[in-house]
Amino acid sequence: MPTGPILCVDDEPNNLALFRQILGEDYRLVFARDGDQALRAAEKHAPSLVLLDVEMPGMDGYEVAWALKARAATEHIPIIFVTALDREVDERTGFACGGVDYITKPVSPFILRARVNTHLSLVRTSALSKSYEDAIQMLSVAGHYNDSDTGAHIWRMAAYARVLAEALGWEADRARLLEQAAPMHDTGKIGIPDAILKKPGKLNPREWDVMQRHTLIGYEILSRSKAPLFELAADVALNHHERWDGTGYPHGLAGDRIPESARIVAIADVFDALASRRPYKEAWPVDVVVAKIIESRGTHFDPAMTDAFVACLPKILEVKAYWDRQEVDAADGLHPSQEEA
Ligand code: C2E
Ligand code: SIN
Ligand code: SIN
Ligand code: SIN
Ligand code: FE
Repeated sequence: MPTGPILCVDDEPNNLALFRQILGEDYRLVFARDGDQALRAAEKHAPSLVLLDVEMPGMDGYEVAWALKARAATEHIPIIFVTALDREVDERTGFACGGVDYITKPVSPFILRARVNTHLSLVRTSALSKSYEDAIQMLSVAGHYNDSDTGAHIWRMAAYARVLAEALGWEADRARLLEQAAPMHDTGKIGIPDAILKKPGKLNPREWDVMQRHTLIGYEILSRSKAPLFELAADVALNHHERWDGTGYPHGLAGDRIPESARIVAIADVFDALASRRPYKEAWPVDVVVAKIIESRGTHFDPAMTDAFVACLPKILEVKAYWDRQEVDAADGLHPSQEEA
């Protein structure tokens, strides 16, 4: 949420007075008379928006904009240039140095209010979608917090799910939504006791009974939101351990009564689980994993989907190689985002 004030920068006190008159009732404002003051004020007040005069003695508006963009703490603050110059070349310069908008003097109160409003609501929306993204990540990680499998598992299997969805003809947007939903498939593991999750050996029947409930718990948590992403995630969490032949859990659904999303995630999840180490098993070699997936065609997995998976295996292995590199780098203390895809 943008909570910072609006920073108004102009060397002309009358112009600053005009900003105060037009915006002062609705917004918290801070003022700067030149570039140096503007940069200090931006660091100090973390404004949610800057109204920036172009022609000023000393540093001009474009230089101030470059300086703001060059600092991590201020680079994301939107800048609206306010100037009497109205030649096209200046507009281009303004956008080139990170301006989001351009207002010409003499300033119309109506236009100024409208532009300020628009840009503050854009800031709010992007802050919200950033929070939303973070929340999804937290939920996904929470589901695996007590699991000793590597953090990479959830992102890697999600990438497999997207590749498979695209191979099955899903539209790109829908496949991307599935990629976002897939990491939440095991959210319900948050409700499973450590002693079961981390057990080094086979689960006894009572423990297995408890373990299976992670599907229902995940659904219970994720279905509280009616947002399309969470509806999809809830469906996947509930059904990702159903099997094509009807011998899965929690409901023993068979065939295409199992949502397609969950059938996709089932293959992605098992492929990754088999190829990885778990407290209760070693990692299997990839060729053995592929053989197991093919062997499960028509029993555990949707036959057509198994064929599609095998057909896009080169792409899946590319994704795997990418994530394997990330894990090696993470072990070196390098953050995954520092490497190129
Ligand atoms: P997970 O470790 O993420 O495994 C996901 C799925 O991959 C499993 O679902 C299963 O379909 C497949 N899979 C994983 N390892 C193997 C394997 O060695 N052989 C075969 N044939 N398939 C494998 P499943 O079986 O429904 O298990 C769900 C979750 O329950 C697992 O997630 C894991 O957290 C836990 N779990 C399952 N079996 C055991 C066990 O023997 N010991 C412990 N401690 N946990 C287990
Ligand atoms: C304020 O911070 O008081 C108003 C400015 C805004 O809407 O962010
Ligand atoms: C000023 O207001 O300082 C001069 C006008 C302009 O910025 O173009
Ligand atoms: C396991 O071996 O842990 C799971 C059994 C299966 O789904 O084939
Ligand atoms: Fe699961």
